[in-house]
Amino acid sequence: MKTPIILGIESSCDDTSAAIIHGRKILSNIVATQKVHENYGGVVPELASRAHQQNIVPVVHQAIYKANISKKQIDAIAFTKGPGLVGSLLVGTSFAKSLSMSLDVPLIEVNHMQGHIFAHFIEDANRSPITFPFLCLTVSGGHTQIVQVNNYFDMIILGETLDDAAGEAFDKIGKLLGLNYPAGPLLDKISQEGNENKYSFPLPKLNGIKFSFSGIKTSVLYFLQKEIKKNSNFINENLNDLCASVQKTIIKALIKKLKEAIHLTGIKNIAIAGGVSANSKLRTEVLKLKESDHCKIFIPKLEYTTDNAAMIAIVGSIKFENQKFTDLSASANARYKI
Ligand code: KG4
Ligand code: ZN
Repeated sequence: MKTPIILGIESSCDDTSAAIIHGRKILSNIVATQKVHENYGGVVPELASRAHQQNIVPVVHQAIYKANISKKQIDAIAFTKGPGLVGSLLVGTSFAKSLSMSLDVPLIEVNHMQGHIFAHFIEDANRSPITFPFLCLTVSGGHTQIVQVNNYFDMIILGETLDDAAGEAFDKIGKLLGLNYPAGPLLDKISQEGNENKYSFPLPKLNGIKFSFSGIKTSVLYFLQKEIKKNSNFINENLNDLCASVQKTIIKALIKKLKEAIHLTGIKNIAIAGGVSANSKLRTEVLKLKESDHCKIFIPKLEYTTDNAAMIAIVGSIKFENQKFTDLSASANARYKI
């Protein structure tokens, strides 16, 4: 079989992205990040759909141009079916279906969360390939999961968050501290100059592989309210230390449950994925599992952590190898499960 060229399209939240993959090698990966949400503290679904509508044609064009291929060379189109915001998903889904009809090539539906995990299968000369079985801590703005990956199409969710996702916790606490959306990357940056042991916030007490971040958010809120009563400039004067202390708490909660999952399953191949896997503290802490728990650690390239179409294209490519196609009746599914 000839190595396929696949166009991947991602539009599940607030990034419009298109990528071209040849086999497992990425030829282009274009991401248009929507700036309209910055001042709202979160993604405004209506604005996101409209921006996808505006961005999708130029983004796909640019991906094809940058890959230095012609439309006629595309062998299949992979698109994000879900989970995500339905209005956003509909833009990518409809566009992918129309283009597959006009180019007369097959369509491949992709689960966004599987995409985050499959980013580890993108060809990369600087990284050793990941091997099955592995555990993946998938941490994004919408999800926090530990997934046991036995094979490409055999994944078990060992545990999830009961309330907010880790990225959501960064964004919501960041908002309390006056940071724009998405606050995660800003909070990470501001933390570099802070003392992470200055303030302590309680970790959730949960049995089993479960996460919860709403308690941390509430305790930060009450703490800030109390301190601001005494000093109205409290946040500004202590921003670095506050960010570093919050970041430490969230990452500690993640690593604690990841360790439990390692002990429970005995699996020592450990990956992280999703937007929060860009976090510098998480990267440092997960690498420590090499020594403490004799694990092999797989950390994605930064450009494949936050939402991107390269991760959709790689799933497309692996599904193509396995002849897993979708017919034109496919529709977006906001709660699509892996
Ligand atoms: O995977 P992603 O792009 O979108 C979803 O599928 O949700 O993840 C976005 C999330 C946001 O909550 C953002 O604040 C967070 O990832 N994020 C970070 C960092 N970079 C992105 N959180 C903490 N530290 C970072 N460096
Ligand atoms: Zn995502």
